[in-house]
Amino acid sequence: MIEFKDVSLVYPNGTQGLKNINVTIKDGEFVVIVGLSGAGKSTFIRSINRLVTPTSGSLLVDNEDILTFKGKDLRKLRTKTGMIFQNYNLVKRSSVLKNVLAGRLGHVGTVRSILNMYSKEDLSLAYESLKRVNIEEKIYNRADELSGGQQQRVSIARVLTQQPKYILADEPVASLDPPTSHQVMTYLKKINKEDGITTIVNLHFIDMAMEYADRIIGMRGGEIVFDGPASEVSEKTFEEIYGRSIREEDKIGGADKS
Ligand SMILES: Nc1ncnc2c1ncn2[C@@H]1O[C@H](COP(=O)(O)OP(=O)(O)OP(=O)(O)O)[C@@H](O)[C@H]1O
Ligand SMILES: [Mg+2]
Repeated sequence: MIEFKDVSLVYPNGTQGLKNINVTIKDGEFVVIVGLSGAGKSTFIRSINRLVTPTSGSLLVDNEDILTFKGKDLRKLRTKTGMIFQNYNLVKRSSVLKNVLAGRLGHVGTVRSILNMYSKEDLSLAYESLKRVNIEEKIYNRADELSGGQQQRVSIARVLTQQPKYILADEPVASLDPPTSHQVMTYLKKINKEDGITTIVNLHFIDMAMEYADRIIGMRGGEIVFDGPASEVSEKTFEEIYGRSIREEDKIGGADKS
């Protein structure tokens, strides 16, 4: 369980990234965070594995306040939270297999990984993870030989190999075409349901959020302006999140909402 209690984050230059966030995310939920550019979506997600550190409040992950974490505790936190990024973050010149085995890093330690001393179990876990996202035939290809959608599937396989309790995906489909975006979202949802991994995904668009999310959190200006199931999203929600009406979008021909 993840609990934000009065969490605020002010960046060193004075920008307020998060303002008094109070929210609880239960185990197994599939939550999508939506909001305009600058709303605080990445700040929210990155706080959970301490890529950024909130400046006040408390943030409990499995009942421990992670804002006090250092050293070993931080490493443990990052092993149990798998990250997926917009730009995949693969080592381009390495093979798909090596990239996926990197998911074991937090478990096996750096020395063994540098020496490629992965166990049979790690290797079969890597292969099974690739199979689950249907990309096992690329196992010996270099990562940069793959399309964007294929690279994102490899990055999902890497996260599976990590065996995390939480998956945090920051704009995982922002660089992909619509059908490929849906494919990636479908894999994330399937893994959430099959493995019960709590998943938090940032997206710009509420329509895609509504297709996949159990729960949508709308952010604007560092604050939560909507929190509920897709069925509760209305035109008013759209206005609260995007600061303008969905009808205006129609008038200008559905221009980019970001
Ligand atoms: N390292 C930083 N230093 C200073 N300000 C920052 C930093 N990172 C983000 N911000 C600011 O904090 C606010 C929230 O940014 P954040 O990146 O969380 O938004 P976002 O919703 O993820 O936006 P996008 O959709 O563009 O990714 C913005 O005003 C942004 O400019
Ligand atoms: Mg962002």
